Amino acid sequence: MSITISQKVRKLRPSASIAAKQKVDELRAQGVKILDFCLGEPDFDTPSHIIEAAHQSMLSGDTHYTGSQGTPALRQAIAEKLARDNGVSVPASQIVVANGAKQLIFDIFAATLDPGDEVIIPAPYWVSYPDIVSLNGGEPKVVTCGPETGFKLTAEMLEGAITSRTRWLIINSPSNPTGAVYTREEWLSLIEVLKKHPHVAVMTDEIYEHITFGGVKNLSPMAVDPSIADRCVIVNGMSKAYAMTGWRIGYAVCPPDLAKAVVKLLGQSTTCACSFSQSAATVALNADQSCVDEMVTIYTKRRAAIVEGLNAATGITCTAPDAAFYVFPDVRALLGSKTVDGGVIEGDLDLVSYLLDEAHVALMDGTSYGLPGFLRLSFAASETVIAEGMDAIAKAVAKLQLADANENQEAAQ
Ligand SMILES: Cc1ncc(COP(=O)(O)O)c(C=O)c1O
Repeated sequence: MSITISQKVRKLRPSASIAAKQKVDELRAQGVKILDFCLGEPDFDTPSHIIEAAHQSMLSGDTHYTGSQGTPALRQAIAEKLARDNGVSVPASQIVVANGAKQLIFDIFAATLDPGDEVIIPAPYWVSYPDIVSLNGGEPKVVTCGPETGFKLTAEMLEGAITSRTRWLIINSPSNPTGAVYTREEWLSLIEVLKKHPHVAVMTDEIYEHITFGGVKNLSPMAVDPSIADRCVIVNGMSKAYAMTGWRIGYAVCPPDLAKAVVKLLGQSTTCACSFSQSAATVALNADQSCVDEMVTIYTKRRAAIVEGLNAATGITCTAPDAAFYVFPDVRALLGSKTVDGGVIEGDLDLVSYLLDEAHVALMDGTSYGLPGFLRLSFAASETVIAEGMDAIAKAVAKLQLADANENQEAAQ
């Protein structure tokens, strides 16, 4: 008899970005030159002082299990960082370290959701949220937040989505895929709604907090209104700011009981995060932060180039993101258009396939992020790749025969 796979895993969708990466790898193996805008991680190497810290830590014997909650030194460094950058004052006992932000999001939902509990997820969302919620027995309640609200959830939308079963609201600010960042006023209006519904907790995924442009600043709701701190959770990590995706260090700030529950889960699953990654993360947080600023300066130039390049293409409209390294252009004007060989671009998924075949440009469809009619491009790519890619997209799109405005409206619906 063969081994059967559980219902819950059979229902799980494979990660869209990992599937896209596989397709790019396959084409490259066939010798096709692909301009890749799917990358969900910094293209920089980890700064050398952090690598050196890991090396020294291994040589000095940090090669054993650590406590499941994370080393006291790293949790202290995180507590100091939270006070310094976020205006959040919490003891190290409320900080939990794990193998990346993703594991913490997973374990926090595992620790708090019972079957049928609802989690409000504004769309567009990071691809993993709905699946993580479902896998832990919860019901994702997706609320569409289009360009009219800057891809952000408003107080009215939140009020309309809350039911007696709602346990969490998860907000990713700065956002993957749109780069949207909630302002103090926007947080205050959401918090006003949350205050009317004390059974709803809020998790903020702040993994892109340091990659912001034009003076935009990330804000944590517990800093905006400390009176709701007992139902706020912050998830963050080292992956994006310090180009440390492979080191697998994330952390969460949790109320005391939740911290204990998550540590119990970690103790029975992964035991602890990698010991020398934790030592290196401690050094990264305590050291001079100019390596982060240097990377942001480079992202700023790339952002300008990609936004300009996309807006130069017929039928594509792209606003400049406030943060992260993604753009989320509107391609609804291209839907319904015809390719030279008579094919029809019915939706953003068709456009992604067309651009891969015609322009050898790999990018992600908005549908995977919960908002059809858009694309996601990462600008964690060199300026040369951006210039070549935007040129190839403009040429491929120029070959499409656009539908008239009425047909277009129908296709977008
Ligand atoms: C919004 C968001 N949250 C979390 C993660 C995962 O971060 P980590 O590497 O810390 O698991 C990602 C990675 O792409 C992300 O985009």
